Amino acid sequence: MTARIIGTGSYVPERIVKNEDLAKIVETSDEWIVSRTGIHERRVAVEEGTSHMAVEAAKKALADAGVGAEELDIILLATSSPDYCFPAGACEVQAEIGAVNAVAYDISAACSGFIFAMNTVYGFMKAGIYRTALVIGADCLSKLTDWSDRSTCVLFGDAAGAAVMRAEETGLVHMTMGSDGVKGPVLSCVARTTGNFANGRIPEIGYMYMDGQEVFKFAVKKVPDCVRQVLEESGVPIDEIRYFILHQANYRIVEAAARRLKQPMEKFPMNMDRYGNTSGATIPTLLDDMNRAGKLERGDKIVIAGFGAGLTWGAALVEW
Ligand code: ACO
Repeated sequence: MTARIIGTGSYVPERIVKNEDLAKIVETSDEWIVSRTGIHERRVAVEEGTSHMAVEAAKKALADAGVGAEELDIILLATSSPDYCFPAGACEVQAEIGAVNAVAYDISAACSGFIFAMNTVYGFMKAGIYRTALVIGADCLSKLTDWSDRSTCVLFGDAAGAAVMRAEETGLVHMTMGSDGVKGPVLSCVARTTGNFANGRIPEIGYMYMDGQEVFKFAVKKVPDCVRQVLEESGVPIDEIRYFILHQANYRIVEAAARRLKQPMEKFPMNMDRYGNTSGATIPTLLDDMNRAGKLERGDKIVIAGFGAGLTWGAALVEW
């Protein structure tokens, strides 16, 4: 038994922020952003938070799968920008959609979060523990962004994507995940847990920090490495893969991965041009775009892979 994706959904806020809009608040240009990242515009949440976006994506995924919320055994929300420290955003989703029979909790692995959540569900289903799962990747990084820092504020956007997974004979074939906490400081965002009466410090309100070049170097090596690893371990030749659904951080990272894997760019769909880097939401929103456009056919072999803060990385070979 394995876990198969039987429905997808996504949500993006209405507010579109173009590169030209950012050039009005920081010293940057459309030309710089497009040439370095491939991003033309992104969506920015105005009133909605992470849980609202997650709920909307979840409802669409359930409708696409034809699954009722009460059928869900487990809800995993991958996010690094929850609305609350607790309760978990997944519990808010559970309440909103009426998934009364599910256990719900969050997974924190930044941009690798959706892959980690999907792979966790695979483990549960392989072990025969759960039958129906809702996996969501949702992030609202605009609210953790320093909008005066041009090196990060041009990169990110807000979104949520979701997938319903069911225990079936075919689906997720093999997966890998990894993390290297030693490299954690290259991509971080402080929480408000730094001060109390005993140390006399006022809790910090932190913004995201990123050493872009270090992350870039890490990503262009780790992504192809973990793609190769899942393929080698499952004995599937790379040419049999129809699509590589990679984390949408930067066009140049995807291009470098394609080059290292010696695969044509047509196999690497992208949506960061419209949405920017939406962290845990990039992979499920892209899956949903492709699913709804009819680009995924039953039996297609696809590889899903990504990287993120932690540092973390992961990949999965999926038979659609
Ligand atoms: N507009 C104009 N100039 C800028 C901007 C901007 N928005 N941002 C930085 N610059 C300047 C810098 O100040 C620097 O100027 P200087 O040479 O005068 O000092 C110059 O551009 C070059 O800066 P670099 O940081 O060297 O630019 P680089 O070519 O490395 O591109 C980028 C930066 C796009 C961030 C790249 O390093 C990258 O893509 N890294 C990976 C980032 C990533 O994937 N992040 C997501 C991580 S995981 C997750 O998804 C959470």
